[in-house]
Amino acid sequence: MKLDRRSFLKTTLASCATAAVPQLALAKSSEGFLELKAAYGKAHLYGDKGGASDLWLYNDRLPGPEIRVKQGEKVRVRFINELDEPTSIHWHGIRIDNTMDGVAGLTQPAVKPGDSFDYDFVVPDAGTYWYHAHNMSWNQVPRGLSGPLIVDEHKQLFPPEADITLVLSDWRLDEDGVLDTASFGAMHDFFHAGRLGNWLTVNGVSLPDITMRTGVWHRVRLINASASRILDLAPERFGARVIALDGQVFSDPREVSGVVRLAPAQRMDLVMRPTKTGTLPLEMMTGQPFTFANFQVTEAQGSDLPLTLPPVNRLPEPDLEDALELPLVMQGGAMGGMRSLLEDRSEEDVRSMMQDGQFWTFNGIPGMQDQPMFSARRGETVVLESRNDTSFAHAMHVHGHHFRVLARDGETLEHQDWRDTFTTDPRETVKIAFVADNPGKWLIHCHMLGHAASGMMTWFEVS
Ligand code: C2O
Ligand code: CU
Repeated sequence: MKLDRRSFLKTTLASCATAAVPQLALAKSSEGFLELKAAYGKAHLYGDKGGASDLWLYNDRLPGPEIRVKQGEKVRVRFINELDEPTSIHWHGIRIDNTMDGVAGLTQPAVKPGDSFDYDFVVPDAGTYWYHAHNMSWNQVPRGLSGPLIVDEHKQLFPPEADITLVLSDWRLDEDGVLDTASFGAMHDFFHAGRLGNWLTVNGVSLPDITMRTGVWHRVRLINASASRILDLAPERFGARVIALDGQVFSDPREVSGVVRLAPAQRMDLVMRPTKTGTLPLEMMTGQPFTFANFQVTEAQGSDLPLTLPPVNRLPEPDLEDALELPLVMQGGAMGGMRSLLEDRSEEDVRSMMQDGQFWTFNGIPGMQDQPMFSARRGETVVLESRNDTSFAHAMHVHGHHFRVLARDGETLEHQDWRDTFTTDPRETVKIAFVADNPGKWLIHCHMLGHAASGMMTWFEVS
């Protein structure tokens, strides 16, 4: 299936709803914990004309409520599981205490139905982050279990109404505009590009209007919460510049001509100051430009503040002279990817892997093992050279650390950005480096969640 405006937009959407910036709809317990409850709920993903979809939601909201704290503060969340299956919450992109990382089966036991778990951690870096379920993520996240986590700088640089969070989610809807649940976990999807949908929502709303004012600098925080969909965006088309990726702000705004990719789990912060009133479409550039939201610009009354960027977060700089250098070779999957697996193992082995639902590997090994892929001494620089020997793009996430993307296909990059999730195209090599300064057990996995479930997931240890 492809996002196809003809098949979906032939019934014109009656009214364009406004994507209200999600509020802090969080109750505080007496001990100061915000309550976050996972439970069954419903939403109309395809506007008023579509049916109601059965979803799994945090605090009955889609996306989950925006959790907003100041840099250096604590996030204290009492998580209550009202679903019928175990779950946990991962705080994506936060350089977090390992025990709070929320990986069911690695850093904590999954929270059983009816049970609760207290998350209590400090957020060291300002920026745009998100949280999502981390048990059977391939099933739990694309049913609705994710939300934004925004860490504010000490100084407020954009007025609240000009600081806009947009959670972008890809859904697979049936002809009635209702979430197709029967196809969750389809091996065919996992074996190919992952579960792709045919409809996008922004903050849970179909084709919303987002209010802006002329002459005012806006910060737009984009979060791709999709299970597998890479979104190709063209900020230049609506006059925006990029100021941050994966939560880490640049020292200067960056003009980007052409398309920028926003892969699953990645974030991109934009700044823009519309000069005219009217409508600016936010589009996906895969194939024909596909509008999935509209900025509605009205006349501003009053102040015209200059653009001031937030300070850059201080992250430990990798020491490339003295680094633990390791390969990360990706193999498997459809369209020829299995062939390379047969080089090291018998056909029987491959068949039994397939029967176990494992058909992707890192360095020849499918899925989570008892032993870590590598161990690093605390403070040691790790350089990973990933080589994508598959026929699909992947979005690789490292838990607990941000890394610099150094080079692609052997070419040193002009901007060696800090990221927590990097993309890699088929046949591409990508070199990343980070300081393993956070003790504990950390995942490395593809954030195309079906790929992670079928082999593209491993872990490393920092001691
Ligand atoms: Cu955003 Cu292991 O996840
Ligand atoms: Cu992948």
